[in-house]
Amino acid sequence: MSVTIVVGAQWGDEGKGKVVDLLSPDMDIVVRYQGGANAGHTVVYDQKQFILHQIPTGILQPDAICIIGSGVVIDPAGLMHEIELLKKEGIEVSGRLFISHKAHLIMPYHKLLDQIGEEKEGEDKIGTTGRGIGPAYVDKYSRCGIRIVDLLDRDVLREKLLKNIQAKNLLLKHIYDEEELEPDKIISEYLEFDRKMDEFITDTSLYINRAIKDGKKILLEGAQGTLLDIDFGTYPYVTSSHPISGGACIGVGIGPTKIDKVIGVMKAYTTRVGFGPFPTEFDEEFGNHIRNLGSEYGSTTGRPRRCGWLDILIARYAAQVNGIDKFAITKLDVLDTLETINICTHYRYKEKVIEHFPSESNILNSAEPVYEELPGWCTSTQKCRTLNDLPENARLYLERIEKLTEVPIEIISVGSDRQNTILC
Ligand code: IMP
Repeated sequence: MSVTIVVGAQWGDEGKGKVVDLLSPDMDIVVRYQGGANAGHTVVYDQKQFILHQIPTGILQPDAICIIGSGVVIDPAGLMHEIELLKKEGIEVSGRLFISHKAHLIMPYHKLLDQIGEEKEGEDKIGTTGRGIGPAYVDKYSRCGIRIVDLLDRDVLREKLLKNIQAKNLLLKHIYDEEELEPDKIISEYLEFDRKMDEFITDTSLYINRAIKDGKKILLEGAQGTLLDIDFGTYPYVTSSHPISGGACIGVGIGPTKIDKVIGVMKAYTTRVGFGPFPTEFDEEFGNHIRNLGSEYGSTTGRPRRCGWLDILIARYAAQVNGIDKFAITKLDVLDTLETINICTHYRYKEKVIEHFPSESNILNSAEPVYEELPGWCTSTQKCRTLNDLPENARLYLERIEKLTEVPIEIISVGSDRQNTILC
């Protein structure tokens, strides 16, 4: 039995795509368990850059089977586009990609409501990706969502779509003062997807549980990160699913007793996109500097990412809520030119010392980060392939992270390519 979960330990964009890509050659099956096309996993493979939004990055491994689990909300048009792009690059998906028949579908009205909802919020907006994620999960939990399995019965699909579109039109017309949607156009577009998606639709929980029994190696890939989790993130500035490791069991349909290992992926500094608290955020000038060094722009929306120092309260919190066994530290090389590097060890709030990541937004908004200053290494780490190749101060930085979090580091990434990696 060997089931590993890869989770993001910060606000997403930690470099999970690269870590999954590194681990995939040893895996029989790679599964995505939550989120949707809000994610963007960037992988450099064969000197080409791939940004996958819905399909697990394991698809780049010729022998791996890839699964989109029941916890994902699927944008069928986007998915078809991704499949076409992969095919163009000579990557075969037929017989290698399976989609849970229980996964919910993202509809055009979800995207519309996401975008209109954000506009109406003005200054209070979340800064969503506009991909319809929140409204699709709202429908799922309101028990009116449309699932992949519904694509297989045209009458059921037509009936459910019509009911949903009529309900959304009431909202659009009377609450948002927007134009109504044309049911026929959406229905005929979605009726097409049964034919296009049929070959991929499977009872993926059954498939994976059988594979576990057969001793296959399985990787469960989270999208977004711990602090975007709907329950454990910086609510309300979160996504609408469960990126944390607990979400993997639900989003795949396996029991917690089947999980062997949890790897937490964490950048050597911190970034976030969208609004919400960020205690260790850099000032504008230094933020721009690091953003340029690290090419910190969202792979889904292209938005500039906010950047800040590594926050140990977040790392410890992520270790706690995910049960992280090992950390993978990414983008260490982005810090290569800095003379000093800060690690936030605690916050100060109204004369009090705060050692555990708080839930109260007023504390998070005004907590003052307290830093430990470490010397930088001022030399390139990109060619380092073993721990011993790293400059001493880089090793000291990593050892300090291990000491403060009590979690060992297993993987260190020093560049975007697969070979820019140190396995500890
Ligand atoms: P949504 O998931 O589009 O509803 O967006 C909710 C929040 O999660 C916003 O702050 C987004 O910027 C953020 N978010 C969603 N997906 C990602 C991701 O893959 N990486 C980083 N942030 C994300």
